[in-house]
Amino acid sequence: MTKKTDIFVAIDTQSLENAKKLVNQLSNRHCGIKIGKELFTSCGPEIVQWVKDEGFKVFLDLKFHDIPNTVMKACEAASRINVDIINVHTLGGKEMMLAAKNAVSNQQIKLIGVTLLTSHSHDFIKEVGFNGSIDDCVKRLAINAAESGLDGIVCAAPDIPNLRKYMPSNFIFITPGIRLGKINNDDQKRASNPIDAVNFGSNILVIGRPITGDLNPHEALLNVYNQLNN
Ligand code: C5P
Repeated sequence: MTKKTDIFVAIDTQSLENAKKLVNQLSNRHCGIKIGKELFTSCGPEIVQWVKDEGFKVFLDLKFHDIPNTVMKACEAASRINVDIINVHTLGGKEMMLAAKNAVSNQQIKLIGVTLLTSHSHDFIKEVGFNGSIDDCVKRLAINAAESGLDGIVCAAPDIPNLRKYMPSNFIFITPGIRLGKINNDDQKRASNPIDAVNFGSNILVIGRPITGDLNPHEALLNVYNQLNN
């Protein structure tokens, strides 16, 4: 492993108290914080500012997917609340992604496209009537994201080797669905362990329940961090 991979811990809770307690057990030297729909809908932009004030990088994972004008306005609003990473669904299409890109004028903020969710399996592709395999679908969505000027994508770690060659060299690959040891996969269908994810080429690992559900979240985080940095 030559390249540094960052860890973002997903704080998925509706309780401000639990969120703060969890964040206080982590260290900004070892991770950033991912704030998703559950926490943001419950606690709003104030929690984002609080996490930033604690010195953490913030990935605001709201996965915007709407008509281009609405996504553009939402991205403008997200840019104003001082986050480091925001995202949209690539399934929203190129016109929507281009509108999002135009809304994020601050170069420090990375705009990321979610391809297929890591909870999606081949059954999902069939259910919605898409043609081709999961790999075909993810590749098409990733190319659309790159062509729309996005900075990177969220995908399952095993997808990365098939995608790298089609993407710009500085493209960012963010991978959720990370599982440690023998812990169960919950609803994640295409999971990887941290070392495999890095070897596949992941730049940022998103890890939720395997860290936040541990009796000692800080120790669980350090365990992953040390695996990546040894
Ligand atoms: O608890 P777990 O590690 O499964 O959490 C994964 C986090 O990453 C959740 O917050 C989920 O919303 C998010 N995520 C995902 N798959 C994607 C994009 C985001 O699991 N494709």
